Amino acid sequence: MTEEERPGAGAWVPDRISLRSLEEAVQSCRGCELYRDATQAVMGEGRLGSALMLLGEQPGDQEDRQGHPFVGPAGGVLHDALADAGIDPDDVFTTNVVKHFRWSGTRGRRRIHQSPSRAHVAACGPWLEAELELVRPRGVVLLGGTAGKAVYGASFRVGAARGEPMTWPATSAARRPPDWVLATTHPSAVLRADDRAATYDGLVADLRVAAALLAGT
Ligand code: URA
Ligand code: SF4
Repeated sequence: MTEEERPGAGAWVPDRISLRSLEEAVQSCRGCELYRDATQAVMGEGRLGSALMLLGEQPGDQEDRQGHPFVGPAGGVLHDALADAGIDPDDVFTTNVVKHFRWSGTRGRRRIHQSPSRAHVAACGPWLEAELELVRPRGVVLLGGTAGKAVYGASFRVGAARGEPMTWPATSAARRPPDWVLATTHPSAVLRADDRAATYDGLVADLRVAAALLAGT
């Protein structure tokens, strides 16, 4: 796709935003080419006014089939980690920086995930801006490098930044920026790690920092 053919999602975002209007409109988005190989777009889910937004990369194989974020293996890890960190799942809005599944090739029935490029992240940004404006979370947890780069730019490294509260950068579009941002590893890194227990404990430790910020301590 040339840049001309990747116009970005802006023209598809409705003027009157609600969870329902976004969910309906995103299904016709042609802001980049990723819609072509995906089953459906996967919009964020959770309560409006949730104190916390969890920001992942893009839907995976299961999310693409089922139409909901974090319902596959990484989602299982994430939900365990939230519970262990004492975060109320009903006070969390869960979404991704890119709304269609990018993949290439298959392994058995499973399609192999390919990370979205910077151009895809930029094209899809208007959906995230709309979600931020609608949900107005107090804090955002960035799950992994793609989410981190989407907000802070290409030089962002999770390893250097994780677990320390940061502010939303002036360079990232948001009409309603959150009070704080926290980066951590992506839950899928737990599934790939040699030392799963240590990687999981690190994720939970970072989420405990988010829990403390939410509690105002
Ligand atoms: N990984 C993500 O980043 N998001 C999902 O929704 C699922 C897996
Ligand atoms: Fe639109 Fe985002 Fe899907 Fe691209 S990935 S078609 S910008 S919703």
